Amino acid sequence: MTHFCRIPGWLGISVLGWLLPAGVSAEETSPQVLERIAFGSCGSQDKPQPIWDEVVKVKPELFLAIGDNIYGDTTDMDVMKAKYTELGAKPGYAALRKTCPVLATWDDHDYGVNDGGAGYSRKVESQQIMLDFYGVPADSPRRKRAGVYESWRFGPEGKRVQIILLDLRYFRSRASKDTRSAEEKARLNLVGWYVPSEDPAATVLGADQWAWLEAQLRMPADLRIIGSSTQVIASEKGMESWGNFPLERKRLYDLIGRTGANGVVFISGDVHFSEISRTDEGPYPLFDFTSSGLTNSHPGWAAAVNPHRVSPVAYAGPNFGLLQIDWGAAAPAVTMETRTLTGAVAISQKIQLSDLKKK
Ligand SMILES: [Fe+2]
Repeated sequence: MTHFCRIPGWLGISVLGWLLPAGVSAEETSPQVLERIAFGSCGSQDKPQPIWDEVVKVKPELFLAIGDNIYGDTTDMDVMKAKYTELGAKPGYAALRKTCPVLATWDDHDYGVNDGGAGYSRKVESQQIMLDFYGVPADSPRRKRAGVYESWRFGPEGKRVQIILLDLRYFRSRASKDTRSAEEKARLNLVGWYVPSEDPAATVLGADQWAWLEAQLRMPADLRIIGSSTQVIASEKGMESWGNFPLERKRLYDLIGRTGANGVVFISGDVHFSEISRTDEGPYPLFDFTSSGLTNSHPGWAAAVNPHRVSPVAYAGPNFGLLQIDWGAAAPAVTMETRTLTGAVAISQKIQLSDLKKK
């Protein structure tokens, strides 16, 4: 099934292979100027999903599904397919598909196993089922390489948005377990199960995806939205995150600096609440806008430690993320908003694009 129900004109052009820079595949580049991008994560197909009504109301030009898009949790690929079919049958999700294209990566549950990594036995089959559901063409590079990562660029120079969706599961090494007592974790306000690994051989993205990411970051863009299924900046609470692999996270920050990639904003999911985190460990202020979940919420996890949080609250009700880009302002800016089941704005923060570059 295709998720490009309202086929944009550029897709038709792309299919013919015209007007595309060398090395850019059919689905990667569009002249469309983006101003409203919605995203979300952690939606259970077993639950009602009223949040889609609010997503559709904001008329997004694109929806990014950044993981735990279903709770597959299986090695039975017929079960996996059936769960995607349940999501596809949700009236709200069907309405979204008529509104805008859906671009997706996965997290652990839709990959197939809770907190899963490189060792999951059905990842080859699961990848094709996921790509089938999201209507990825048979000739897409994503069909042939290991992992579901991909990037796209939208809009002309000066208004160009690059979307990079990473795969944090296919290649990821085992995280180190936290062996401290429940009492000790409670005293430190930790809720997770992991501690940082200093193993220099441990990887998050794997060698091929790292090389690919470097090539993407070297392409020109004015705003780069990097979708990471787990949080990038917040890590102290001990849940899954890039912080469990600090050498890999430093490599990510250093890569942004080394490639001169301006305009990076991370979006993430997984943790069942929404917040915005910031770090100055990169070449310029880096923000991580977390929106989770479309159905699943966990106030206890939202209350855990995060010294990087810059949003006034961590919002633990059903929510989605909205990125609104004002290209026409004297200082072009992106506003990050957490939207709730009633359409209310729970969190809002504006960043000027001129601040997202090395000074
Ligand atoms: Fe997850």
